[in-house]
Amino acid sequence: MCIETAEDLRRLMKIGRIVGLTLQAMQERLRPGMTTKQLDMIGLGVLQRHKAKPAPFLTYGFPGVACISVNDEAAHGIPGTRVIRAGDVVKIDVSAELDGYFADAAITVPVLPVSSAYQRLCECAKAAFEAAAAVARAGTPINQLGLAAEKTTRHWGYHIIRDLPGHGIGRALHEAPNVPTFYRRQASKRLVEGLVITIEPHIAIGSGRIVTDPDGWTLRTQDGSMAAAFEHTVVITNDRPILVTAV
Ligand code: CO
Repeated sequence: MCIETAEDLRRLMKIGRIVGLTLQAMQERLRPGMTTKQLDMIGLGVLQRHKAKPAPFLTYGFPGVACISVNDEAAHGIPGTRVIRAGDVVKIDVSAELDGYFADAAITVPVLPVSSAYQRLCECAKAAFEAAAAVARAGTPINQLGLAAEKTTRHWGYHIIRDLPGHGIGRALHEAPNVPTFYRRQASKRLVEGLVITIEPHIAIGSGRIVTDPDGWTLRTQDGSMAAAFEHTVVITNDRPILVTAV
């Protein structure tokens, strides 16, 4: 969506904050020994307190509240009986709806103690997000965000997962435009003031190619390498973007 009124912005910021608070609660309460389902229920509790609905279920019938993806699972992991262990790298992706407005954000939590290599991978996902966000303003071609994220990721020695791009969002979970996190020449449309998008680099130690699990949802790296992600919903302005899902 494109923000047209103060009311649009107010409502978007409201669901954005709820998504941010949900991620924060899940990160704070994540403990080794807990199942991904238990972690998911913590997220559900926060969303329900704010009367927000999980968007993956609402939009696609996803069998869970948040997407929780562990280690080589890059995205869309289904919360279940898997027990989280020290040394795991847990991606938590929360998207939710309130009053017809949607927001989406993700973090990667290294479960301590974790190897320094995996810790560094998590830091790189955030750095790639920040590099893209730093160039995201009205007038910038969309592919410059991807260029920035890709450059940063390469510089750190990792690879972008090209099949998991950012996207427009606001009145639905997934809207136009597509926001690749690598340089794609054709993505040359310019950002406009008020446009709401996600910036979400998904990266891997290995090739960055992903395959779908037999469960039909979970996307994991083809080579079994560790994956990390970092995502915010943002509003494009003439200056730095507004981070809708920051708390
Ligand atoms: Co997203």
